Amino acid sequence: MNPLAVLLVLSFVGMSFACTCDSVSWAQCEGDPCQCYVTVGKNEREILNCSALIPKCFLMKAEMYKKLHKHFRGMPVDTALVDNDGPYDPECESNGLFKAKQCNNSEECWCVNSAGVRRSDKGDKNLKCEELVETYWIHVELKHKATPNPVEVKDLQRAIAAAIQERYKISQNLITSVSYDGDARLITVDVKKPLGDRKEDLSRMAYYMEKDVKAQPLLASSSKFEPNVAGQKLEMENILVYYVDEKAPTITMQRLTGGIVAVIVVVILAVLVGLLVLFIVRRRNQSKYVKAQEMEEIQPTLS
Ligand SMILES: *[C@@H]1O[C@H](CO)[C@@H](O)[C@H](O)[C@H]1NC(C)=O
Ligand SMILES: *[C@@H]1O[C@H](CO)[C@@H](O)[C@H](O)[C@H]1NC(C)=O
Repeated sequence: MNPLAVLLVLSFVGMSFACTCDSVSWAQCEGDPCQCYVTVGKNEREILNCSALIPKCFLMKAEMYKKLHKHFRGMPVDTALVDNDGPYDPECESNGLFKAKQCNNSEECWCVNSAGVRRSDKGDKNLKCEELVETYWIHVELKHKATPNPVEVKDLQRAIAAAIQERYKISQNLITSVSYDGDARLITVDVKKPLGDRKEDLSRMAYYMEKDVKAQPLLASSSKFEPNVAGQKLEMENILVYYVDEKAPTITMQRLTGGIVAVIVVVILAVLVGLLVLFIVRRRNQSKYVKAQEMEEIQPTLS
């Protein structure tokens, strides 16, 4: 074979290896300099910054497009598209933020928070969503699989915080608590940023985590999310993500009792059928948070 041809082939191979996206394995990449994008519509793509987590809105939109166009290659099909309401085709701002009003290409619209989760009742096209309300606090419940040896709380806390920080590039001081219930194999993690902060986008981290546990990791380079706790790898079997917004949602709450001052929108990612969970947190003595849907289910627990 002509040495020049070999060289050409080699350099081509080298180039195509170099041009990939660390933060989404299924992104499409091309060109020199390498540019990566996801397809979010017919002849519509979003260019990605592969050194950061990708905005959730772009990912959701690309996943939705992929769902509706099954011939589109490159992305793993999974069953774990988020949300109580089920997946929808979001409208994104050019910087990847969700538009405050979402209609899923239909006549029915609703308001979402910065994580794209519904926080209002559904309405028609004339529904007003004045602003995109920021999710400043994410409460994650992870259940891990059984381990041969017992897990020490201290080791676990350290390992989980380190794994989250490293994997999702979240600064350590935002991880405000990691607690553990060994009998239930339940790890709860709170990631909270200051009110008013618009630099960190917690929805990305939450979405990446959901994908890690429920579907396939988005990250190209890393393996599964399996924090190493004193030599034991913890495999996760379930995740629930609770979103707390800077302003209480406006979902109609007539049926709830007086003590509830703040309600969060909850996204349940259990693939396990219709798992309904109630989560109540007391913060100082004033706030409680409940799952904002299926109020009937919650009612008995509250009273
Ligand atoms: C891409 O993300 C990194 C990490 O957050 C950031 O430092 C960099 O400025 C971003 N690049 C662009 C072009 O936005
Ligand atoms: C959005 O539209 C798709 C396709 O029509 C549908 O499958 C999905 O359930 C809708 N999602 C919501 C939240 O309305």
